[in-house]
Amino acid sequence: MPARLPDRKILVTGAAAGIGRACAEAALREGAAVALADQDRRRLEETASALTTLGALSAVEMDVAAQGAVAAGVGRAAEALGGLDGVVNCAGIDLHQPFEATDWAAWRRLMAVNLDGAMHVCQAALEPLKASGGGAIVNIASGAGLKPIPDRVAYCASKAGLIMATKALAMDLAKHRIRVNAVCPGAIDTDLFRQSLGDGVSIEDVKSRYAMQRIGAASEVAAAVAFLLSEEASLITGSALAVEGGRVFH
Ligand SMILES: NC(=O)c1ccc[n+]([C@@H]2O[C@H](COP(=O)([O-])OP(=O)(O)OC[C@H]3O[C@@H](n4cnc5c(N)ncnc54)[C@H](O)[C@@H]3O)[C@@H](O)[C@H]2O)c1
Repeated sequence: MPARLPDRKILVTGAAAGIGRACAEAALREGAAVALADQDRRRLEETASALTTLGALSAVEMDVAAQGAVAAGVGRAAEALGGLDGVVNCAGIDLHQPFEATDWAAWRRLMAVNLDGAMHVCQAALEPLKASGGGAIVNIASGAGLKPIPDRVAYCASKAGLIMATKALAMDLAKHRIRVNAVCPGAIDTDLFRQSLGDGVSIEDVKSRYAMQRIGAASEVAAAVAFLLSEEASLITGSALAVEGGRVFH
């Protein structure tokens, strides 16, 4: 099968682990050059060295919540790749907390990473995307942004906000030939998912929420992201694609 992202230049945030790493790997295997961005320097270096044989890549350390650092980091990524025509916003954090016990500093940090962070990256990437004549942005939201899960008011709200920001951006950026879509994973086997278990919630409880009764693999989300980045999705913008085995049925 021909590569779906030949010579594309793609930035992936949250690329040092989990779904972001799988997205970076899938893009490299599909022929893209990839800039990996993450705030965790050690894991970023480990991931970059593990993926280096797959294609052209560079690594950029940045915290997506820090707007100035994002502007500089996206600029470095575009320079290293020789432009930019794809962005995957995958950096994200979870917050499992009963609403009565809301820690507002943690709430604000979650919004700053999951919602503001993705928008910082979109804004910083705008000029390089326009200079490429267009491109594709994929925001990793969550099934929790479409249908709530217990004890995660902030997380659900951040992801619902990201889904609507995706749709609004799709409307605004179409004139620049930039498509903007969201992918909404369900339970995917990553560090973030495993850390969210406990407090009486087991893997079997989580599986039972899904029609397919299983936990997904990061590579299954990455396959959907690669599709949305590619020309195969040339008429798709403003969509929120659930990749989760049947819970939200969206
Ligand atoms: N795993 C799941 O079940 C699941 C389900 C739905 C949505 N998601 C979403 O998918 C995305 C990736 O999740 P994952 O499960 O791979 O998580 P993960 O914790 O395994 O990996 C997240 C990566 O993002 C990085 N990161 C976190 N905050 C950052 C910041 N401020 N700046 C830059 N990098 C940052 C981390 O260092 C890490 O490398 C998140 O947005 C998450 O909300 C995950």
